[in-house]
Amino acid sequence: MAKKFIPIKDTLSKEKVGKEVSIRGWVYRKRELKDKVFLVIRDSSGIIQAVSKEGEKAFKNAQKITIESSLTLTGKVREDSRAPGGFEIDISELEIVGLAEPFPIGRDLSEEFLLDVRHLWLRSQKMIAILKIRSTVLGAIHEFFRSRGYYEFDPPILTPTACEGTMTLFKVKYFDEIMYLTQSWQLYAEAGIFALEKIYDVAPTFRAEPSKTAMHIAEFWMAEMEAAWMKLDEITEVAKDEIKFIIKKVLEKNKPELKILGRDIKLLEKYATAEYPTITYTDALKILEKKGMKIPWGKDLRTKEEEILGDHFGIPVVVTNYPKDIMAFYKPSDPKDPKTALCFDMIAPEGYREIVGGSERSNDIKQMKEDLKKKGAGSGDYEWYFDLRKYGAVPHSGYGVGVERVISWICGLKNIKDAISFPRTMKRFRP
Ligand code: 4AD
Repeated sequence: MAKKFIPIKDTLSKEKVGKEVSIRGWVYRKRELKDKVFLVIRDSSGIIQAVSKEGEKAFKNAQKITIESSLTLTGKVREDSRAPGGFEIDISELEIVGLAEPFPIGRDLSEEFLLDVRHLWLRSQKMIAILKIRSTVLGAIHEFFRSRGYYEFDPPILTPTACEGTMTLFKVKYFDEIMYLTQSWQLYAEAGIFALEKIYDVAPTFRAEPSKTAMHIAEFWMAEMEAAWMKLDEITEVAKDEIKFIIKKVLEKNKPELKILGRDIKLLEKYATAEYPTITYTDALKILEKKGMKIPWGKDLRTKEEEILGDHFGIPVVVTNYPKDIMAFYKPSDPKDPKTALCFDMIAPEGYREIVGGSERSNDIKQMKEDLKKKGAGSGDYEWYFDLRKYGAVPHSGYGVGVERVISWICGLKNIKDAISFPRTMKRFRP
């Protein structure tokens, strides 16, 4: 009969003590004494220590096996407080499936080297923990919107026009034409709401940003929503609920991974339940001024300002009504304060800065055309977009969540590059 393999996490229980189990995985650590070999085996579910003693059938293979070799192993489970996880397997059989060459990753290697060998570093305990949390975050986004009656609506990735300004477009040769990689699904979502009203999507997004900050990557995933009839004050509440929902799900499913990453769980519990404040850009400038930073009205908030605001509140804060002149063409003026736009950003604490950006959408074709012109873009390619205002226009709004920014924050990462499996930046695009 074929062997029944069980996940390593299922071997780590008192119920299994004295019982024979079979597992399969990779050698995570190896320690050799004269008459014993200790192996720590990992699979996607966890790690367990296994020991082979001289004179036993498996001993030769245990001596021969190398770090990151793949194997199958059978043995009896024993409780051992010295072993990681508190249990150990006495190996009776060990089959080497793929004998590994000397593994190039050891301790204390530079961040750049670990990025060079990202295809191998993915198997580190740190990356496994982050990838599991990432999976929870993406699942939570789908669950959040689907359970609230939103339809998933998929945008094209190749687009003929800019959504977020022409400066960060990636050009693609498209047969005999030039197209661009999408900067946001938004313009297409604004067509989708006339069919489905409430829609969302999580998709790759591209920005040719030369900035080499710890918060920017050139290919990132954005989770976006768009809804007919909704106004700014409604979508800011949806965004707050979504972020809290994501954190709750991670707390529910990923406490062991958060521990591996050394993340403060109490702090995440606060983020999952706190009431996030909403302030205006003008209020934000007043707060900054009290802290000794005088920003002229009309200037966008930069890294330092967002960090100070994040620290001031200690929880995410929604900032609305940025100056209209520095906003994208589709953001309308606030009739109550026309020099500002009906838009918002959500700023995360602990230096994680802007995690969400969104707005109401303008229905004023003339204003949008003028804004595009001011920003140096032609409006010809947007005629289809203006059509949406001609045939049954409705008030509508939406926002986008920077998935890797949220993951970085939840995991407490120093650099956003670790929030995605194979990061792309100006300098880093291999492997
Ligand atoms: O604020 P942004 O530019 O908003 C939009 O693109 C809107 N069209 C979204 C919408 O209304 N549907 O981007 C949204 C979020 C930012 O708040 C940030 O979290 C993230 O996307 N983001 C990035 N994340 C990583 N690397 C980059 N280069 C990013 N640029 C934006």
